[in-house]
Amino acid sequence: MRTSRIISTGRYVPSKVVTNDMMAEMVPTSDEWIRERSGIQQRHFVDSEIGVSDLSFEAAKIALERADMNAEDIDMIIFATLSPDYMFPGSGVLLQEKLGIPGVPALDVRNQCSGFVYGLSVADQFIRTGMYDRIMLVGAEVHSTGLEYNERGRHVTVLFGDGAGVAILGASENGSGVLSTHLHADGRYALELCVTDPGSRKIPRINPDMFEDGSCYPHMNGREVFKHAITKFPKVIKEALDHNNLTTEDIDLLIPHQANLRISEAVAQRLNLRPEQMYNNIQRYGNTTAASIPIALDEALEKKLIKENDLVILAAFGSGFTWASAAIRW
Ligand code: UT7
Repeated sequence: MRTSRIISTGRYVPSKVVTNDMMAEMVPTSDEWIRERSGIQQRHFVDSEIGVSDLSFEAAKIALERADMNAEDIDMIIFATLSPDYMFPGSGVLLQEKLGIPGVPALDVRNQCSGFVYGLSVADQFIRTGMYDRIMLVGAEVHSTGLEYNERGRHVTVLFGDGAGVAILGASENGSGVLSTHLHADGRYALELCVTDPGSRKIPRINPDMFEDGSCYPHMNGREVFKHAITKFPKVIKEALDHNNLTTEDIDLLIPHQANLRISEAVAQRLNLRPEQMYNNIQRYGNTTAASIPIALDEALEKKLIKENDLVILAAFGSGFTWASAAIRW
């Protein structure tokens, strides 16, 4: 049976490192508060007008080289981000232009923290059906230019970082690769984690009040997000395991979306996982939303934490609310 598999990965983060102490010079916070609440020690921020298409282009070049492919070998681009270069068009076409592959379809996915896993599911369907052979899947964010650097926004601002991760998917005929994907959403919680403005329902769409009332910056009900995250993560991971007649014991590596180290720790505890069964790197990158899973996956592969035939589980939860998982036989 034809399935999809991840052939190669690449990651790129901007070189500027912002430590918690540096963050404390920008907003009223402290290293202690950030570490204690989130586990984050530093994040990377762009230091000039760099968009997600630029970050992902760098990650894409690495992934192509590792796959021993040229950009021309790619049949489709799927681009997951909540921080596109422009309101429209999507960043997928901008990356396509940089890669120099006109005509190749580019699909943008707007599922925030779950964007990479949703994108993986879309790519998997296209490859399973035989419509495409090789898909470039991107998760990338530039958060730093859209955060609120003051007391009102500090509970959000300290959490997020910039970066990009890319996976190239191809076809597999031997049963390895993506075993299943599981997608969920609950729009009743749409406004618990959101940026509402500028939005098309506002007349005029852009007005100065948006800066005053903060509606052009991320709004997050942190406690509500936390509460749902620690229940939805284990549930969607169990769903992936049950679907494939597997148990938590079978997991070689769980790569959760890097939302908050405290969330990952609570998930590990609820699933009774040994520390080496879960990969976390939020300490060094902050929450990079759609980019967090591909960045972590790329690091884990580089560190040789994943071997052939290993069971890798990807899982995400975030704004929407949306949540999702994927089971992969490496
Ligand atoms: O991908 C999904 C993304 N989001 C998440 O995963 C977030 C999930 N939620 C969380 O991780 C936590 O809710 C946070 C880390 C965001 C916040 O932790 P919390 O324990 O829920 O804090 P809080 O917002 O209730 O604030 C507690 C206190 C408040 O002060 P008072 O009222 O107790 O005096 C805040 O004003 O901490 C204060 N505070 C801060 N202090 C220093 C809020 N943000 C900061 C800050 N630095 N950055």
